[in-house]
Amino acid sequence: MSTTTPQREVFATRGAFIFAAIGSAVGLGNIWRFPYVTYENGGGAFIIPYLVALLTAGIPLLFFDYAMGHRSRGSAPLAFRMATKVAEPIGWFQTGVAVVIGIYYAAIIGWAGAYMFFSLNQAWGDDAETYFFGSFLQMGDPGVSFEFVPMILILVIVVWVITLGVLLGGVQAGIARFSKIFIPLLIILFLALVIRALFLPGAAEGLNALFTPDFSALSDPAVWIAAYGQIFFSLSIAFGIMITYASYLKKKTNLTGSGLVVAFSNSGFEILAGIGVFAALGFMAAASGSQVSDVATSGIGLAFVAFPTLISEMPGGGLFGFAFFACLVFAGLTSLISIVQVPIQALREKFGIGNKASILLVGGAMAIISILLMSTVTALYVLDTMDAFANNIGIVGAAVVGLIVVGWFARKLPVLRDHLNAISSFKVGWFWMIILGGVTALVLAYMLITQIITYATEGYGEYPALIIGVFGWGMIALLIVIAVVLSLIRWPRKTIEEADAAIADSVAEEQKGHHTGRHAADETTRGGN
Ligand code: ALA
Repeated sequence: MSTTTPQREVFATRGAFIFAAIGSAVGLGNIWRFPYVTYENGGGAFIIPYLVALLTAGIPLLFFDYAMGHRSRGSAPLAFRMATKVAEPIGWFQTGVAVVIGIYYAAIIGWAGAYMFFSLNQAWGDDAETYFFGSFLQMGDPGVSFEFVPMILILVIVVWVITLGVLLGGVQAGIARFSKIFIPLLIILFLALVIRALFLPGAAEGLNALFTPDFSALSDPAVWIAAYGQIFFSLSIAFGIMITYASYLKKKTNLTGSGLVVAFSNSGFEILAGIGVFAALGFMAAASGSQVSDVATSGIGLAFVAFPTLISEMPGGGLFGFAFFACLVFAGLTSLISIVQVPIQALREKFGIGNKASILLVGGAMAIISILLMSTVTALYVLDTMDAFANNIGIVGAAVVGLIVVGWFARKLPVLRDHLNAISSFKVGWFWMIILGGVTALVLAYMLITQIITYATEGYGEYPALIIGVFGWGMIALLIVIAVVLSLIRWPRKTIEEADAAIADSVAEEQKGHHTGRHAADETTRGGN
């Protein structure tokens, strides 16, 4: 008997969910972050840690997030609270990380939106670097300033208006429909771009630079850390998104099967992006008589400095640039809506606020902070610091503490396994539990400690202590305090009753699975996963 909440939103079909989940996963991380991270971390050899991270941490954690959200039909804080009471702050911390990422993510989408149109007449002139940092962002000295850049202010506002507009449409009519339109469009447009790039003179040189393996990189722990970081950010795991999306699924949904589709689509798109971007850089290096390593600059620079330079040099560059930045905008928007939905759903449940009211309140508050922080002359420093700390400490920390508390302390992995197996096609078994609770937890713990020591001793990006203190360490400390305080507030009785009912439903399903499927499940898991 189902007693789950009548007004809880649902994805109408599994297809709608898969589109939304791919929409969330495929984002800025795939198009500008992956190619650069790969290149910096051993080129072709990076594919090895990348695949290891995908198989041992990415996919297992994606299943973990799905099981957590679906079993309790709850946002991240509720899902962790239902696993064990003491885990609730982990859910709030993940929600806080999503808020931080959303705040700066919107700004990058705004820049890409402007660059779509700049591409048409190559507004950056002869010097794309000076244009981006100087004329466009009007960067000042690294510090905290509230001197606004009007154009950026308008761009960030527009991004938030679109995002909140889509979210107001609801989970099915807003999020799922938006992704269903823009993801196919993105794939077609991006494929066309990659094919065009592959036919440019010099493309092969770019691919050589990307894929020539530097195996010595494999002995460097930083390379492995980069691989795990890339996978988490890219798959939208360990910061509440996949927990939230899974909570909108119907009772019987093939969770692991959907997860495999999402994970392989995301990595496929990512590798395609690497090929396209480096083919284009190969052309650029050939055209300017330089090495690919000279033209492949850092993350943000790659999209907003190297690409504009390339667009100016290639025949038909205007249209190519328009399409490239349109891809960034589409991929970014379908990810941003998933990021913002995390705190909206969490606070909706905790305070019993209505759907629209929580979008306007929570989304509106995020939008205001984002607009204030990201439209100033020092926004880039703030953005870069928030990005580094949110990803390398926030997401990794949330993942490792979550696994230790839920897996080791509450011993919930067998229950989550049973939940996945009762309704999914691809069965998970002891291998999944050992990988998650053992190997992945330990590797992540090591990564987290290394990262904290590095930031504590070496700082980050040569920024002044004020920036690192406020937007790095201060931001992490604030998230921890908020997470603990929110966990001390009581949940509405109705919310807990509904989550209890969802879990009771799940238990019934799991028991059915035990009776009818135990033998079959054992057979399937014997081979490994
Ligand atoms: N998963 C999203 C991305 O890759 C956040 O950008």
